[in-house]
Amino acid sequence: MCGIVGYIGNKKACPILLEGLRQLEYRGYDSAGLSVIDGERLRTIKSVGRVQELENKIGERNISGEIGIAHTRWATHGKPSDKNSHPHNDCQNNISVVHNGIIENYRELKEFLIKKKHKFSSETDSEVVAHLVEEFNKKVDFKTAVLEALKLIKGTYGLAIISSREPDKIIVARNGSPLVLGIGKGEYIIASDTSAIVRHTDKVIYFDDGEVAEIKKDGFTVTNIKNKSVKKDVTILDWTVERTQKEGFDHFMLKEIFEQPEAILDSIRGRYISAKGAAKLGGIENVIARIREAEKIMIVACGTARLAGMVGACMLEEYAGIATEVDYAHEFRYRKSVIDEKTVLIAISQSGETADTLAAVREAKEKGALTLGIVNVVGSTIARETDAGVYTHSGPEIAVASTKAFTSQLAVMALITVLFGRQRQMSLVTGQRIIKELERIPSKIKQILAEDKEILKIAKKYHKYKNFAYLGRKYNHPIAFEGAIKLKELTYLHAEGFASGEMKHGPIAMIDENFPCVFVAPSDSVYEKNFSGIQEIKARKGKVIAIATRGDKEIAKVADDVIYIPKTLEMLTPILAVIPLQLFAYHMAVLNKKDVDKPRNLAKSVTVE
Ligand code: F6R
Repeated sequence: MCGIVGYIGNKKACPILLEGLRQLEYRGYDSAGLSVIDGERLRTIKSVGRVQELENKIGERNISGEIGIAHTRWATHGKPSDKNSHPHNDCQNNISVVHNGIIENYRELKEFLIKKKHKFSSETDSEVVAHLVEEFNKKVDFKTAVLEALKLIKGTYGLAIISSREPDKIIVARNGSPLVLGIGKGEYIIASDTSAIVRHTDKVIYFDDGEVAEIKKDGFTVTNIKNKSVKKDVTILDWTVERTQKEGFDHFMLKEIFEQPEAILDSIRGRYISAKGAAKLGGIENVIARIREAEKIMIVACGTARLAGMVGACMLEEYAGIATEVDYAHEFRYRKSVIDEKTVLIAISQSGETADTLAAVREAKEKGALTLGIVNVVGSTIARETDAGVYTHSGPEIAVASTKAFTSQLAVMALITVLFGRQRQMSLVTGQRIIKELERIPSKIKQILAEDKEILKIAKKYHKYKNFAYLGRKYNHPIAFEGAIKLKELTYLHAEGFASGEMKHGPIAMIDENFPCVFVAPSDSVYEKNFSGIQEIKARKGKVIAIATRGDKEIAKVADDVIYIPKTLEMLTPILAVIPLQLFAYHMAVLNKKDVDKPRNLAKSVTVE
């Protein structure tokens, strides 16, 4: 949520900042702004709307400074407007601040600063930082003033601050919101994530909570808030610029849907031994003995990632015989869940920065549980704070709606099931069967992707309807929810996911000829139940789009439309069944003229509670 970027070097800062903002726009896109120190003058330009609006506003203006900060916003305090956009400046227009996070005690700080005659010009929590630094800067130098300010601030922040009175440095600080430093040749780029850095350098430093850095053209120092020096390691990125481009697709989402065969291959490659029916996950080898002793697994995540957890729980209970619970990370952290040293907590997160999921990890560690992360973004906070984990290696996911990260999470959950299962009750033959089927998944996804035109035809038939129900059972119950999330976030239409057995307990009352149902009904152990469910919908004049296994002719006799998926092992059907639902939601959004990659009100990574 919110993207921040900063530049210091020998080039003009303004174009580099704008380019960085474009890369980070998926983190928030209701307003944007930048500040550059141009000579001795601090120049700040902000605009409500997309980064393009900011660019239009800058237009032909010649902004020639070589140091600056910028921000793309997802509003938390104060509606999107020019004045609430970042950067926020102090009263004298010397100090400029961009902030990602929430300053929890901003009201009391604001009151204190108003008493000291500071004039506020926005409704945001973030503006207090500029005035607080200004207040301390009256007596001490810029960096010390920032340190003093941070001692008073409660809450989460990724901060980048510049001052026209000390125009040779950017001060950055992190607590709870991600911040990465890119190290170039004679230049540095600060950003919320590496997508704004990859085009400049592959050398980065990930900051940890409580760290503050002073960055100059010719070097940088990192300390804690007490100004005690901290040593940092440099990481080399393996993401390339090309992987963050659309490469001929109309939208990132479509590109990412079509990347799924490759993404799944990348997430399983080198991580199993077919002949032994075994999985080998290097990232959790160190904690394998503790996993063997575990009595319970607790999976925490949010949104789509939680649905991957629900499928994973089904896999683990059926094949590894371990009691597994799944919870929303934001519920888990506030309820008194019973977990201890015999619990393995698995946190699933594409970004590795979701605030609630991170808080759940910390809570579980506190209670003595072993924490594992299934994370996509290398070096992200959850990846670093969990005791061990498995990267999904799906590559950068830019579209706000998660697709390839989800199917890679499912593939990794299947490997984890084999690993945990073979430690317990799973036979060699079962292990071999799962692995063999998993290896075939990428080519089966390709077969579904080849049907895209048929799915578009179905979307054309239904794109004017306003309400949709998504139904599924057992392994595909979470997939019904996932289909519904995709449709609502992309089209803003009303879509609800249900466990299909629940329909008769109330929801079926809604069904009529204007309420189409998407029924996920592959040929699996619950097929007959789903088949009856479809007939019940049809008996009430409901329209049914069925997701079924190729060769199922019976379903075509009752459903209005059928999208076929190849046959696979029941536990792996979700990886295939979700593909047509992603494509259906994508086409529905395009047909309804919605912004596919950046749906309204959303942001890619939710770094605030
Ligand atoms: C929906 C979607 C979200 C995320 C959720 C968790 O398409 O992308 O529901 O799955 O916000 O995000 P991560 O996985 O980054 O923790």
